[in-house]
Amino acid sequence: MTHRPGHLVLNAFLMSSGHHEASWRLPQSPPGAASLSLEHFVHLARVAEAGTLDSVFFADSPQLQGDVGRRPSGTLDPIVLLTALAGATQHIGLIGTASTTYNSPYNLARRFASLDHVSGGRAGWNVVTTAGPAAARNFGLDEQPLHAARYERAAEFLDVAFGLWDSWEEDAILADKAAGVWADGSKVHAIEHVGTHFSVAGPLTTHRTPQGRPVIVQAGSSHDGKELAARYADAVFTAHQTFEDTRAFYLDLKGRAVAHGRDPQDVKILPGIVPAIGSTEAEAKAVERELDELIEPRYALQQLARTLRVDPADLRLDSHLPADLPDEDEIEGAKSRYTLIVQLARRENLTVRELIGRLGGGRGHRTFAGTPEQIADTIQAWYDDGAADGFNIMAPVLPSGLEAFVEHVVPVLRSRGLFRTAYEGTTLREHYGLTVPENRWTAARTLTPATTGA
Ligand SMILES: Cc1cc2nc3c(=O)[nH]c(=O)nc-3n(C[C@H](O)[C@H](O)[C@H](O)COP(=O)(O)O)c2cc1C
Repeated sequence: MTHRPGHLVLNAFLMSSGHHEASWRLPQSPPGAASLSLEHFVHLARVAEAGTLDSVFFADSPQLQGDVGRRPSGTLDPIVLLTALAGATQHIGLIGTASTTYNSPYNLARRFASLDHVSGGRAGWNVVTTAGPAAARNFGLDEQPLHAARYERAAEFLDVAFGLWDSWEEDAILADKAAGVWADGSKVHAIEHVGTHFSVAGPLTTHRTPQGRPVIVQAGSSHDGKELAARYADAVFTAHQTFEDTRAFYLDLKGRAVAHGRDPQDVKILPGIVPAIGSTEAEAKAVERELDELIEPRYALQQLARTLRVDPADLRLDSHLPADLPDEDEIEGAKSRYTLIVQLARRENLTVRELIGRLGGGRGHRTFAGTPEQIADTIQAWYDDGAADGFNIMAPVLPSGLEAFVEHVVPVLRSRGLFRTAYEGTTLREHYGLTVPENRWTAARTLTPATTGA
């Protein structure tokens, strides 16, 4: 796969005081409620924008996750937060997570279209199906829908959303004062969707958005997750530990996109990297060690037990994982993360304590401690050798880790001609090097008899 020169994608994945679970315990970390502080996130978005990063991103789940004792908990609704960030920034893309299991497509398509309008074409949606039974109980369900059913609903959800985003053609608005006609009704379309999960008439309340539709991101790496991404996504967030696994995933997903009739360049693969940056390798490793020593194993042990679907009493800190863990097929939660964690423990023969240490930095994303040049070397190698189109930058500590990345790593990437020195476009699609999707009604209207075969 050849990349366009200088077109590495860099997305800043933002999370309260940082991705390392003990980041909030460092003396310099923002006190208390960094996870709900607009000021904190405005600062981070502006730092990312000063480094000409492509986008910022917020994860989300409609449930209070994990143990509140463990780390700053609580999250703002990403669309509300991103709307505020749209007013505080000018260029950077704004990507938020929303669940297809616990939303309805009309409301969500409308909100993301609104974000695209108010941000001038910078909106992105990380489409997730939400793993975890606690969320189900916030929506009148006793159990979460099964994994396959969640992905089936997600596909229909996206069909409806894509239809709604196409419901206004680009040139529907006439604003013809002389004739007294504001819009051409023949270019505003109902969708009349009647499917297994949804009945939606349309059209949408918002006009065609600056990007045609928001950038669609997908972050599930199970078989069904990859299929959903291959059909609908413009970008894929993914977690891997090794170059070989990332490269295999990259080739697999690009192949699936081609099987769905798509150009593989139209699906950007962005693995996560958690960079601990130091002016020497020893300094970077000391930063990482300081954080790891602050991990409280009792919380991490509970979390690991939940992910593995075992009784916490069956996990002993200085022993290996139980031998009789379920296969991925039997997992109804987050399948690919389950497999990643079990494979990591088995491949490196880790005890539970060591595994918790490895996951504390980035929850399964690749952690890397080094100098700015070493971090740039890793990014460049994975990009050049066809394992990534860019990266999810997951600073272990915020804001300092993102500030260090922008101040020290971005200049190295620029000096190697890998990364932009100024924004060239205005929309997130332009930053990522993606085309604007054609409106289906306009396309049908402009088909000539020769091309329709009529
Ligand atoms: C970078 C990244 C970010 C993610 N963000 C979210 C999120 O915000 N909410 C969520 O429910 N899942 C999130 N996930 C998890 C996946 O979207 C997916 O729900 C989970 O892995 C289960 O999918 P799978 O069974 O297809 O692997 C994220 C995954 C990655 C790699």
